Order: sequence, then structure tokens, then C-alpha cells
Amino acid sequence: MNTVVMGLQWGDEGKGKAIDYLANDYDVVVRYQGGHNAGHTIYFQDKKVVLHLLPSGILSPHTISVIANGVVVNPVQLVEEIEQIRNQGFQPDNLQLSSFCPVILPVHQELDIVFEDSRYVKIGTTRRGIGPAYEDLTGRRAIFVKDLLDRDIFYKKAKPLNDYYNQKIVSRGGKEVSIDSYIDTYIEMGKKLKPFVCNTLYSLNSYLKAKKRILLEGAQGVLLDINFGTYPFVTSSNPTVGGVCTGTGLSHKAIENVIGISKAYTTRVGGGPFPSELLDDEANFLREKGNEYGATTGRPRRVGWLDLVALKYAIMINGVDSIFLTKLDVLDEFDQIKVVTAYEDTKTGEQGIIFDPSFEYLENVKPVIKTFKGWKSNIGDIKQFQSLPLEARQYIAYIEESVEVPVNYISVGTGRHQTIQK
Ligand code: GDP
Ligand code: IMO
Ligand code: MG
Repeated sequence: MNTVVMGLQWGDEGKGKAIDYLANDYDVVVRYQGGHNAGHTIYFQDKKVVLHLLPSGILSPHTISVIANGVVVNPVQLVEEIEQIRNQGFQPDNLQLSSFCPVILPVHQELDIVFEDSRYVKIGTTRRGIGPAYEDLTGRRAIFVKDLLDRDIFYKKAKPLNDYYNQKIVSRGGKEVSIDSYIDTYIEMGKKLKPFVCNTLYSLNSYLKAKKRILLEGAQGVLLDINFGTYPFVTSSNPTVGGVCTGTGLSHKAIENVIGISKAYTTRVGGGPFPSELLDDEANFLREKGNEYGATTGRPRRVGWLDLVALKYAIMINGVDSIFLTKLDVLDEFDQIKVVTAYEDTKTGEQGIIFDPSFEYLENVKPVIKTFKGWKSNIGDIKQFQSLPLEARQYIAYIEESVEVPVNYISVGTGRHQTIQK
């Protein structure tokens, strides 16, 4: 079944781990949006691999890996990542890169930095130029991967953009970026990437016709979606299900199954509302136990309890069929485990289960909490659902009942084998 795997929270749900586990059952793994703001961690045979642009199926030798048109590509980063994977003993030969991926230029990154630094309320972007590169796409002036393959075309398109952005950068106190400082490198990267470049829209549709099994790998998460997330504290793409169609050229009919990834609690990195956030010693304990530090920027992640109001919203707008619950083991030592079941509007005192993603609303809600007894034992080696402690099974049952979707996979550690299929 062609399957979308997407994060249901604010990113870092463990998509890399989940996709690496699932990839064996698929022929093709496709990234459909985002860029190297993503950091997907996989532990394979004691090797830690962090992927930013390469699809998480890349470690499975028979899988075709596709970076489709919805992904914004920094070519220097991609070449580095391909080399890193080779150095770690993997063969990224089955990689395809869409000729229509918008390219991130050094000016985009500089713009991201100066915009972020001059914002009164910070989004906390990854400072990688993701937003400005997507702005060029919607502004109808993007430079694509195919343009890297011809120096004259690249220069003709990039020079006016570069000049225009330099004015903005300098006016905000940033450092001018000369096109001469990177054009040779970008053209060189174009040469290195050329063997992978193709029309992925046609290759993907031919795989569909040939009944190959396709897994679509989301980056970020539903609550960071440009349309449905906690705007403006969002990323500039659509991790949600519509992003699959616009980011690949596969029709909606190709999507047969949606697996949503959720941590057994919640994290967020960067600014923005977070109703179930913890700020005390419990937060520090959870952060350390869960090793909640960003895979891309190393920033400490904000942490909190599982928020069922937000989870239901994410499931509703994406037609999620089942949940892959990650990091359940991180809760092993807690006496009590809490979940948010509703929000109380602090202005009116009313309780509700509507997730209105606006800042003004979420900043003014108080979470309604249900408390569960912790299981207080190590579950990292458990292989069967029935062998999980009763309290853990009760916690999962409550989640399933609340969101009306089954939890079909439970992850109890970083390793591929530390996954329980129900
Ligand atoms: P992604 O962006 O969704 O792929 O997630 P990240 O890789 O940014 O962050 C998830 C982190 O949690 C990584 O360090 C994973 O190795 C780790 N992880 C994933 N699943 C589990 C799990 O079940 N238990 C524990 N303890 N760690 C996990
Ligand atoms: P993965 O795929 C968590 C967050 C940033 C910031 C906001 C906008 O690993 O789950 P951007 O650089 O995209 O303009 O930043 O989005 N963000 C992520 N948070 N995981 C990610 O990716 C993220 N990618 C972006 O921290 O708040
Ligand atoms: Mg991540």
C-alpha cells in the first residue's frame, strides 16, 4: 500500500526511525517537502546517521530514494550528505533528484538570518534559507536544480535575484553575498548531482503504474504546516497530506494509507504557542531522558505532555489511518504520566476540544489534564504488545479511544528492532 508517513506534532517525532523500520516493505521512499531544516535520525547497526535531505530509505540497499519537486535543495549540503553516507558504508546509487527542486542560494540563507534577527518575536528558524527559497517559488522567480546544469542560465537567473536580495540584506545590517563567491561551487555541485537528476514526476508515476510500493516521507510536522500550523511559527511548506500531491506529481488516488508519527509526549523547537509545555524540573528530566536536542541545530527542544486536542486536529486534516507512537520508553521512570484532553479558555472559562492554531487563542488556553499511573519499568527490550506493562497498555488504549485511530506501532528505543507492531 502506498503510504504517507508524516509527523503529527511540531517535528522530530521520530520519522527517521519509523521510516527506516518501515522501508523494508517498500520499493521507493520519497521526500516531498521541506529542505535541510529537517534532521531525521536513524541508528543502524550501532551507526548514527542524521539525514537532512536524503530520504530515510537510503540505508536499505534495494530501495529507490527520491527527492521530489516539493523539496528545496541546498546543493552543497546534498553533495556533502551523499559523501557522508558513502563514508559510512552505504551506497546512495539509487537516488533520484527532481530537476524541478527549487535551489537554496547563499543569499537565501543570509536573508533568513537577517530577517530572523530583526524580528521582534522570533520564529526560531533553522537559519538555513528555507523560507526565502520557498518565497521565490511562489514569487515565480525560483532557480531550479536543472538550472545548476548550465552556467549561463544559472548566472542569468541568479544574478538579478542576488543583487535584489543583497539590497535587502545590507539595509538590515547583514553581509552582502557576491555571486562570484559561490557560482563556481554551485556549478561544480551541479556536475556532481547530474547523475541523479531526472524528471521524478514521470519516474514516480511509472512506479505507481508498475505497482511498486511507495512510501512518502514527510519532514517537519502538521503543526508546522504553512497553512494549518501555528502561524506564523511554522515552516514554509506543507508537511500535511496535500503537500504529497504538489510535492511529487502523484495524484491523491495514489495515497492509500497515512501513518502519523507521534511521540508519547510532545516537543517543539523554536518559538510559538505550546499549551502542554512543561517548564520546571519535570521538563529538564524529560528533556534529558528523551535526549531532546535538535538533530539539525543542536538546540534544546521545549518539552511537554501529549496533547490530544492537537493530535485529533492533526489526524482529522490528514485522514490518518494509524499512529506510530514513538519514545514510549522515555516515560519509563515517571510516577505519573499526563495528557491534555481539552483546553480551557482562560477568558471565558469554557472548555473545548477545538484546536484553533492561532497564537492569540493558544496563548490563552489552559490545558485540562488527565493523569495516568506510570509503569516504572524498563520497556526498551519488549518485543510483544502483550508484554508491555498494564499501565503502558492502558495509556495507549486511552490515546486510541480519544483520537479514534489505532496505534499500530510502538517504538521503545532508537534501534530499528526496538519497535513493537501491534
Ligand atoms: P525526526 O525529525 O522526526 O526524524 O526525529 P529526530 O531524529 O529529529 O528526533 C527523534 C529522536 O528520537 C532521534 O534522536 C531518535 O534517535 C530518537 N528516537 C526515535 N524513536 C525513539 C524511541 O522510541 N525511543 C527513544 N528513546 N528514542 C527514539
Ligand atoms: P524534522 O523533519 C522540528 C521549525 C524551526 C522553526 C520553524 C521554522 O526534523 O521534524 P524553518 O527553518 O523551517 O523556516 O523554521 O520550524 N522546524 C523544525 N522543528 N523539526 C523539524 O524538522 C523542523 N524544521 C523546521 O525550529 O520553529
Ligand atoms: Mg528532526
